[in-house]
Amino acid sequence: MADTATPPVIRRADYAPPAFLIDTVALEFDLVAERTVVKNTMRVRRNPDATRAAHLELLGERLEFVSAAIDGAPYAAVRPNEHGLTVENVPEAFELTLVSLCKPIENTTLSGLYVSSGNFFTQCEAEGFHGITYFLDRPDVMATYTVTLRADKAAYPVLLSNGNLLEEGDLPDGRHFARWEDPFRKPCYLFALVAGKLVCVEERVKSGSGKEKLLQVWVEPHDLDKTRHAMDSLIHSIRWDEERFGLELDLDRFMIVAVSDFNMGAMENKGLNIFNTKYVLANPETASDTDFANIEAVVGHEYFHNWTGNRVTCRDWFQLSLKEGLTVFRDQEFSADMAGGQSGASDEAARATKRIEDVRVLRQMQFAEDAGPMAHPVRPESYVEINNFYTMTVYEKGAEVVRMYQTLFGRDGFRKGMDLYFKRHDGQAVTCDDFRHAMADANGRDLTQYERWYSQAGTPRVAVKTAYDAAQRSYRVTLTQGYGDAAPAARETQKGALLIPFAIGLIGKDGADLPLRLEGEASATPATTRVLELTETTQTFTFVDVAEKPLPSLLRNFSAPVIVEYDYTAEELAFLLAHDSDPFNRWEAGQRLATRELLALTGRAATGVPLQLDDSVVAAFARVLSDESLSPAFRELALILPSEAYLAEQMAESNPAAVHTARQFVRQRLATALRSEWLAVYEQHHAPGVYEATSKASGHRALKNLALSYLAELDDPAEAVRLASAQYAAANNMTDRSAALSALLNAAAAGGGTQAQDALADFYRRFEQEPLVIDKWFALQATQRGSAQRPVIDTVRKLMTHPAFNLKNPNRARSLIFSFCIANPAQFHAEDGSGYAFWAEQVIALDALNPQVAARLARSLELWRRFTPRLRDGMHAALEKVAAQAKSRDVREVVEKALA
Ligand code: TRP
Ligand code: ZN
Repeated sequence: MADTATPPVIRRADYAPPAFLIDTVALEFDLVAERTVVKNTMRVRRNPDATRAAHLELLGERLEFVSAAIDGAPYAAVRPNEHGLTVENVPEAFELTLVSLCKPIENTTLSGLYVSSGNFFTQCEAEGFHGITYFLDRPDVMATYTVTLRADKAAYPVLLSNGNLLEEGDLPDGRHFARWEDPFRKPCYLFALVAGKLVCVEERVKSGSGKEKLLQVWVEPHDLDKTRHAMDSLIHSIRWDEERFGLELDLDRFMIVAVSDFNMGAMENKGLNIFNTKYVLANPETASDTDFANIEAVVGHEYFHNWTGNRVTCRDWFQLSLKEGLTVFRDQEFSADMAGGQSGASDEAARATKRIEDVRVLRQMQFAEDAGPMAHPVRPESYVEINNFYTMTVYEKGAEVVRMYQTLFGRDGFRKGMDLYFKRHDGQAVTCDDFRHAMADANGRDLTQYERWYSQAGTPRVAVKTAYDAAQRSYRVTLTQGYGDAAPAARETQKGALLIPFAIGLIGKDGADLPLRLEGEASATPATTRVLELTETTQTFTFVDVAEKPLPSLLRNFSAPVIVEYDYTAEELAFLLAHDSDPFNRWEAGQRLATRELLALTGRAATGVPLQLDDSVVAAFARVLSDESLSPAFRELALILPSEAYLAEQMAESNPAAVHTARQFVRQRLATALRSEWLAVYEQHHAPGVYEATSKASGHRALKNLALSYLAELDDPAEAVRLASAQYAAANNMTDRSAALSALLNAAAAGGGTQAQDALADFYRRFEQEPLVIDKWFALQATQRGSAQRPVIDTVRKLMTHPAFNLKNPNRARSLIFSFCIANPAQFHAEDGSGYAFWAEQVIALDALNPQVAARLARSLELWRRFTPRLRDGMHAALEKVAAQAKSRDVREVVEKALA
């Protein structure tokens, strides 16, 4: 196949069980960076449930074939080919031994076996294992593994693999070995090995049933002082999964290893999780509060995969959300419980802030995905490259689809469904349907209709109409569902109405919730939130005994991943923002209010009409700012304006420059009108000298730093520059230090002094030895505000030549290139097309090194059709350029779908 030919499409409908099964795998590695020898001995047999095939077809990629033997005797009827290896005319059941070579040092894809900082690592999900040895690289082939690692002892003193250590010892010529055994059957995507100069912190804990477990976090020696938080997060994860789901750690030993070259966040390899350093290493000087929270979430996520992913895995990659959606839901619940404890009112507020953060990501990223050419259902129907389907839809919308079972059946009902799922499927490779059936059967419900959440792409819309009848004291709520003008990719999948759990409350004139009684019910329920089940296209729900005309609080806690259409007045939104008992909807009301105002201003900015901000908006924000009954964390979330990306996405024709102008205008107005309030909040929440890592303390820091960022918007930023400089110099933690630097950069964009440049230089010097902090240094500059005289693209291009820049390291590439192309829309979408030219260059350069990372960057132009004509043309030209030059399946799929 020529490099640029259109690659084949894999379809869910074509699933067939494997012709052969592999029961055991014994791997022997002679680890040498230039040339690693792998000996793979497998017990293979024909699959009784599959159609008979004469030959065994194994996948292999970048491998050099050496030899084959069957049942110990050399076997000549083997043919290496472009997909791997064909072993001809094999018996019913046999032992197959294959020897092959690979070249880890040359592997820049970071998939398969590769070298990072002189150490060996593997990454096998989704299909990296056949870059290590010839295999049936598919998740429905499950085997037990024993792994022998041999390597030079001085260069690679630590040798790790999945499961339990059986034996280790010295070999001649300064080499040594270790033998590992994983007692659990697993698909090959969960295989892992690590070898190199690493050290660990370790801890012994007792699991629920009283068994002792050895926990280790492995890092490079200079990072040992940044492992405490990851270890604590692991211990908390283990406890939480026991308490909430009755799931215990099944191995005697559980290891986390940090690596600085990594394509994604982390990987749940059985007993040997491998993590991007970004999601392990933290101490207060180097990691921000957000980093600490992300580490807890990702450690939890990978640990929770041990049951949801590993013990029960996916039959095929179309079922990816079976493990990812479920595990994201579990990590979201874990983080919410960790922030807020598991019950109580103040806890509800803390849980709500986590929920708000998750929904913000979903709406900004997943809704956008649904509106573009890559739109796909939670369970996709086809793909070209599976790595392109580790998406917001599979992960985040998938988590919402899992969450809705809990919304429908309650925590107990959800737990029953989980218990039945494990009872039925432990040790199996299964489908999303199997999970749905377990939930249905455990709760005595027919969930046939619910299947559409897995098969329909696009973001559902629910239009709401209400009518109060004062004479009847009744309130009618009519819900109508549909998809609006969904993207073509989504439209094809839409077959009918969804089961939508729609949580609602009714609010009286005094701001308190009204009792709820639906027509036909004997009395009102104690709960003032009801989950209506919308199953038809249109349905009317009638509340009776409604003493006054209520204000509806719709889709409380975001009970379904839909867009709610309801014409609130500005006054009503301000009222909800001030009173709704549902903290999510309080936040939501503020966002709606701001979005409406910002979109109106964007329209005016686009046509050069002078801007003006309504006083009622200022007043609503002022109330939140000074409402001491609200937690600082909540106030911070409520006072952040909707992002530029989200706003642009709401426009008929995205205009990033106008959005930026409008949003900046509102920030400046809020800064000016509430100057003394921001200052007061800044002083009040500033706690110099003490550093606490609690979520409460991080809420104070977040609100204080938001105040600082608003103050930096003032026409005269002298005050903000003074505060930020002092904060920068005195900071004893990364949250405060980076927020101060960011404020200085923003004040400088408006024409401040030299403080920002001085602070940038200081920051670099101070953290030169900390790659994760240098990533922040690049990102802060890539996302800074620009001006006509100083466009950010110039800074970015200059930074590309900085000695610390390295395109091969994904974290570094993301910190500079992705930050600019994705997180600085006003600068990236410059009218002269300079951003797009840069994007095309970088996609092509990355394509040759690391297709997975290149494809992620390629996706940042996929919404090109939704922009103003001038930008559209510029993006189209850049996409055509990449389409003409990109070689990988990964990038080709993305740009071809974008151009189709
Ligand atoms: N399964 C991993 C997770 O969600 C993510 C993952 C998939 C991954 N493919 C990968 C990580 C490739 C790194 C590289 O936890
Ligand atoms: Zn995952």
